Amino acid sequence: MSAPELDLDSILEYTVALARTAGDLILEGSEAIQSATASKDVNEKKNSVDLVTQYDTDVEELVKKDLAAKYPTFKFIGEESYSAGSRPPLTDEPTFCVDPIDGTTNFVHWLSLRVHILGLIYKRRPVLGVIFQSYTGQTAKPLKLPLASPPKPLGSLSQALIAVEWGSDRGEKTITSKSSSFGPQNVQGGKMAHSLRSVGSAALNFALVAQGGLDLYWEVGCWPWDVCAGVVIAQGAGGVVTGSHDAFAASSGTAEFGEVTEEILTGRKYIVVRAIGGSEGETGLEAQKRIIQEFYSTVEDVDAN
Ligand code: IPD
Repeated sequence: MSAPELDLDSILEYTVALARTAGDLILEGSEAIQSATASKDVNEKKNSVDLVTQYDTDVEELVKKDLAAKYPTFKFIGEESYSAGSRPPLTDEPTFCVDPIDGTTNFVHWLSLRVHILGLIYKRRPVLGVIFQSYTGQTAKPLKLPLASPPKPLGSLSQALIAVEWGSDRGEKTITSKSSSFGPQNVQGGKMAHSLRSVGSAALNFALVAQGGLDLYWEVGCWPWDVCAGVVIAQGAGGVVTGSHDAFAASSGTAEFGEVTEEILTGRKYIVVRAIGGSEGETGLEAQKRIIQEFYSTVEDVDAN
């Protein structure tokens, strides 16, 4: 989405540099958290699998302070501030939307599939996104996404590599319906797919769909800070993002389809499909809708808790 009143190029440059600083602290934390004495730094939020570490809090504090100094009029929503009770309503004002460490469980297990997320929402729509994965000694060369140009076709869900996540809601209803959705093809409505992946970070899933390595990612239960940046990056790479079964049904026949409205951004149900090359008789967008339709007719809708 364009936001001509904001200098998005300079905000992007600034936030990328800030994400690198946050990435250094995450790297330092991932070493420190492995020491025996640091295990006391891992705490639980709503249950024993919803983890937060001292580094989630420290990284968010660092980024929040820095952004407040540089952009004093912008608002701020962050995962850890939200958990601590700071829950400003979404307004039309520019609002940074930050997850200090997405993939906290991976972080705790010293699995490097964890990222820093810095998004910007303006007029209630995601407009800018940075997803930063830090590695020791990493030098990254910028690549244009999707990696395949033109984008690859996708004939049907049966050829798709799909990302799903277990999330932190382990209630019986949620796990039962997710399990049956991820289950065998011979259950009622079941379908084949190449395979399922769960990398443990919503933002990484979005980035991998933007890249084209994953064809689709679906999750119920994550939050705006998990997806805000990924939405912008996936859309910029030709991907399409929408919300729940109902949101898809209501918008797929309209010109607004693919717009991540406030309802979708805050609705905690997300599906993203990569750029698909058009073919004779079908545009890329039609193919993306066909894949979502096929996927949503296969999985159960479930409430986000
Ligand atoms: C979580 C990760 C995970 C997803 C959860 C998120 P966090 O974020 O993105 O993959 O399944 O829904 O809450 O807690 O690691 O920042």
